[in-house]
Order: sequence, then structure tokens, then C-alpha cells
Amino acid sequence: MPSKPCRICGDDALHPFLDLGEMPIANAFLTADQLRQPEYKFRLRTGFCSHCLMVQLIDVVDPKMLFHDHYAYYSSISRVMDRHFAGLAELIGESLLYDRELPLYEIGSNDGILLEKLARWNPNAVGIEPSTNVAEVARNKGLTVVGEFLTPALANELAAKYGRAQLVVGGNVLCHIPNLKDLAKSLDGLLDEEGVFVFEDPYLLEIVTQLAYDQIYDEHVYYFSVSSLSRLFESHGLRLFRVQPIPVHGGSMRVFGCRAGSRRPTESSVGDQIELEQENGLGAPEAYTVFAERVAQSRQSLTDLLGNLKREGKRLIGYAAASKATVILNYCGIGPETLEYVCDTTPTKHGLFTPGTHVPIVPIETFAADYPDYAFVLAWNHLKEIVEKESAFASHGGKFITHIPTARVV
Ligand code: SAH
Ligand code: TMP
Ligand code: ZN
Repeated sequence: MPSKPCRICGDDALHPFLDLGEMPIANAFLTADQLRQPEYKFRLRTGFCSHCLMVQLIDVVDPKMLFHDHYAYYSSISRVMDRHFAGLAELIGESLLYDRELPLYEIGSNDGILLEKLARWNPNAVGIEPSTNVAEVARNKGLTVVGEFLTPALANELAAKYGRAQLVVGGNVLCHIPNLKDLAKSLDGLLDEEGVFVFEDPYLLEIVTQLAYDQIYDEHVYYFSVSSLSRLFESHGLRLFRVQPIPVHGGSMRVFGCRAGSRRPTESSVGDQIELEQENGLGAPEAYTVFAERVAQSRQSLTDLLGNLKREGKRLIGYAAASKATVILNYCGIGPETLEYVCDTTPTKHGLFTPGTHVPIVPIETFAADYPDYAFVLAWNHLKEIVEKESAFASHGGKFITHIPTARVV
């Protein structure tokens, strides 16, 4: 595989370690008309930089193709995330805000799921959200949202207009931003001298240990460890002072940072987590080579299991048209010859087809009306919730399939 320089440090020691093949955009569900047109695809490959330790996509999709006026992900549809962000807002309000006058900014505020909770603690809460359809939902809740990508120029403009921030927060957005040098400059422009930033993103150690390769897709440019993130911030005059593992999105990390010269002491959680990452080999390429081998084995176990069931004449369907589903189906070469349909609760996905593999997406009612023999759960992170709520399927003799680390009937 030809390599490219590291996106963070420019080093040419980027080790490519996983190639998931030609991949469409994970959330680009297709209409029947679009099935006849060529789909945009890119090579989904990851690399590890042994110089700055950042795991990253080798080829990146232009963010303007992902975040626009019809972005498919509305944060507020998830009750679990709503409860999670209520907890974050409380933590911020109770222990991080220090001045009623200074503003706070949320990057990637989406439909306002967190911003509305923060606005109860601070009237000067400003969202920055380039996907204008979701930004509009937040504005309709009475929130202040700037409908643009965060850039250093915008940061300076906002600081001049609203003031420098006591807090900058972003959930599941830092890993979406290809140019993190600019992001650090933006933080520098936005933050008050004692201002704090808080980010939450899927955590590399969880992805590697759980074999969650379907977390790898176009929107996720980086797969952070505390080791790589702390180095990155330190090279831009910023410092992590606390980290906290959180259970959302299959295992994430919440990081707290400030300016390097802030009075806040660095807490032991940062060093402890870096040590744990070293013990797990995240600082050397071997861990990633082993991960890639296990991913390939996982794919084999899945195609074997589904192939055997098909040969026995069983009826199979997919359950949940998550963005992860696009990765699994395309990487494993699973299409309508194997799955009759994918059922999903999201009404806007009904009548559409899965990107790249063209399996029709139908309402959950279609599933309940004529149960198949097997339902392959395409969102392993929701497996427990789905199995519990679909107990009638089991009573009809139906069985669920899950795929990581190894494909099996549950
Ligand atoms: N924070 C929400 C949304 C996460 S999805 C949550 O955790 O549920 C990521 C969001 O970040 C999208 O709404 C996307 O439009 C936005 N985004 C992507 N790049 C951005 C950038 N450079 N600046 C600000 N927002 C960005
Ligand atoms: P996500 O993992 O990217 O949040 O996507 C989850 C998808 O799964 C979303 O399209 C909704 C769907 N889903 C169901 O269809 N049924 C369910 O019970 C759950 C939890 C999710
Ligand atoms: Zn690097």
C-alpha cells in the first residue's frame, strides 16, 4: 500500500495497517433513482504514526460532502445520549463554569441536544454547527447557533463579538476535523486565560480491544488515544489536565484541557491512562497489525456463518441501518443476495437503500409482520436493547446474529 505523510506531524513514518476497501459515504443512503447512478467512493484505510502516535484515515473525504444542509444524524433521537449530555451539562455547570458573564461555545452542537442544557447554566451559550438543517432545529429551540465550520478566523470573530470563552465543548466532533492544527489555533482564539475545553470522542483502546472496526468510516478522521491527544495539544500551547472514560458510542474518552500556563494542576488520570495505553501496546505498530489480522478473521467468520445459513435455505435480514452497517456490509461483501432487507426505526431512512450494497431499508413493522429465521444486528452497540425489545421474535423461534469479535448466533 502506498503511504502518505502523517496529517498531524507531517512525519512520513505513517504505517498503513488496515484496508477496508472501496467505501461509499456511511450515511449516504440512496433513493431508488440513485441506484442507477455511480456512487462516490473512497479508499477506507487507516495508518498509525509512530512519531506522534496518531491513528488516522489515510484518505479523507472533504467535510463539505459530509456536513451540509441535509445531514442525516440528529443527535436528539437517542434517549441514551440525551441522558448522557444531561450529566455532562451538570458537571460543566457545577464544576467548570466560573463567571456568569463569559460565554461558552459548543463545536458541532447539532440539533442542540447539549447546548439547550448548557444554556440553562449560562445565557451566553453559542453553538457552532455547519450542518444547517440540524442547526436550524437548535435555533427553533431559541438557541444561538452560527451555521459554519469552526476556523481560526471565525474563532477570532466570535471572540470579538461575544467575548473569550470560559468553556469550549464538543461531543463527537474533534475526530471529525481533518485540520487539527487549525482547531488548536481556533481554541487559542476562543479561550479565556483560565478557560477550559472538554471533548468526547470514540476511544482508540476500546476500538482495538473490542475489535470495533465499524467505528472506522469517513466522518472519523482520527482515532484518539490520550497519548496522541496530549502530545497534539502540548505542541500548540495547550494541556490535558483530566481524562475520564465514558460508556457511550461503544466506549469513548472525555478529555479536559486548558492553556499550558493555566493554574489548573494536571490530574493523575492523564498519566495513568497513558500508562495503560503503553501497557496495551498502543505506542507501537505491532498492536495495529494484530488488530488488522483479527478484523480479517472476524470478516471470515461472518461470511462463513451467513453463507452456511443461506445454503440451509434460511431467511436472513439486517437489523439497524446505522453508519456502522455501511462499513460492515461493504467490507464483508454482504448485499441483497444474503439479506432480504435492513429494518430500522428512523422514518427518513425507510424506502432508501444501503450505500454501496443496495439492500432496501424498511420499517421495523415489516420485520414483525413476517419474522425471518435470523436477524443480523448491524449496530452491535445496541444489541442488548434490541434483543430485549424484540423478545417476540425469539418466541417465534427467530435468532439474532452478532459479528464481533467472532460471528455467532446469540
Ligand atoms: N455533538 C453532537 C453531534 C455529533 S456529530 C453529538 O455528540 O451527538 C458531529 C457534528 O459536528 C455534526 O453535526 C457536524 O455538522 C459538526 N461538525 C463537523 N465539523 C465541524 C467543524 N469543523 N466545526 C463545527 N462543527 C462541525
Ligand atoms: P448509531 O449506532 O449510528 O446511533 O445508529 C443506530 C441506528 O440503529 C439508527 O439508524 C436507528 C437504529 N436503531 C433501530 O432501528 N432500533 C433500535 O432499537 C435502536 C437502538 C437503533
Ligand atoms: Zn504523526
